[in-house]
Amino acid sequence: MKILLLNGPNLQLLGTREPGIYGGDTLPEIVNNVKILAAELHCTIEDHQSNIEGELVSWIGSARANGFDGIILNAAAYTHTSVALRDAISAVSLPTIEVHLSNTAARESFRHHSFIAPVCAGVIAGFGKDSYLLALRALHNLLARKKEFNSK
Ligand code: DQA
Repeated sequence: MKILLLNGPNLQLLGTREPGIYGGDTLPEIVNNVKILAAELHCTIEDHQSNIEGELVSWIGSARANGFDGIILNAAAYTHTSVALRDAISAVSLPTIEVHLSNTAARESFRHHSFIAPVCAGVIAGFGKDSYLLALRALHNLLARKKEFNSK
């Protein structure tokens, strides 16, 4: 299984960015932990971070042509603003898990709405860096079930 892990704006600042909310781990540390679990699950991960909405849209849009089976996405603030990301996920039609470190439902009201949640397979939020590991397990299980179903 080949999985695309995408991180959106300001997540390059993890480690020093509001550690009371997002924890003290840097993004490379979090991605490294995801890759360790991925190896155990026999998945490969390609990861990118960008502060630019269009770059995220392009990576999602080319994911199927690039052989990815699914996507793990922390769209960060674009979660709450981006119709373009929603349309990209919908267009590429690969199972996508929305991830957040913080529990967005327990924060400011502008974080309660996600444009992308309706086109994602599910949302994992509020478990800090573990949100990413839970998302990988969820996506792995979902893809395994899909594969089993398709082979019947
Ligand atoms: C976030 C939550 C978003 O509301 C926020 O804009 C972020 C990070 C999270 O991982 O908790 O940048 O996606």
